[in-house]
Amino acid sequence: MENPILGRHAVCKFKPAAVTETAVDQLVAAFEAAPCGMHQVEDMAGVVVTDPALRETIEAASNNACYGAPLLFAIATKNDSSFGDRDASAAAENIMVQAAALNLGSVYVMSGALALNDHPEILSQLGIDQGYSLSVIVAVGQAAEPAAVPDRTHRYKLIRR
Ligand SMILES: Cc1cc2nc3c(=O)[nH]c(=O)nc-3n(C[C@H](O)[C@H](O)[C@H](O)COP(=O)(O)O)c2cc1C
Repeated sequence: MENPILGRHAVCKFKPAAVTETAVDQLVAAFEAAPCGMHQVEDMAGVVVTDPALRETIEAASNNACYGAPLLFAIATKNDSSFGDRDASAAAENIMVQAAALNLGSVYVMSGALALNDHPEILSQLGIDQGYSLSVIVAVGQAAEPAAVPDRTHRYKLIRR
């Protein structure tokens, strides 16, 4: 993909095929390269979920919010952090852009993250420490259907002075 920032778009239908270990390593590197507020690196933690049973538990608890994607990159942040959700969003974008560079589809899933926060037993299964909550799950996998990137020019109000 020529420019993965421009090529990334939300994918909500995935093939079941697993993401390769090499690709997982590159997604992890993208997460680790993300910026964080005031260098408070302990405010954010990531969990890479590929285990089918755990993914099924997550989908069941979140009304299939992650669209059956074979890889879920869950990002948790410290509850009292001023930076948490911002850090998590910056990291999520890194992961999504890296996914696009690998010709993988992805989507930022906030609804599923919030739904799982009502299930402390699942947070515990994920290994998320007490005092942390999920901020976002990035669902990643091969897109089930090829889709052209929509024209997003002028989508947001932009002021140039
Ligand atoms: C803060 C935020 C929350 C989002 N939450 C969800 C979500 O819960 N479920 C979902 O399918 N997509 C979610 N999205 C993805 C958006 O729907 C998607 O990015 C938007 O429609 C723009 O499309 P694009 O990403 O293809 O440009 C979220 C995106 C952001 C930035």
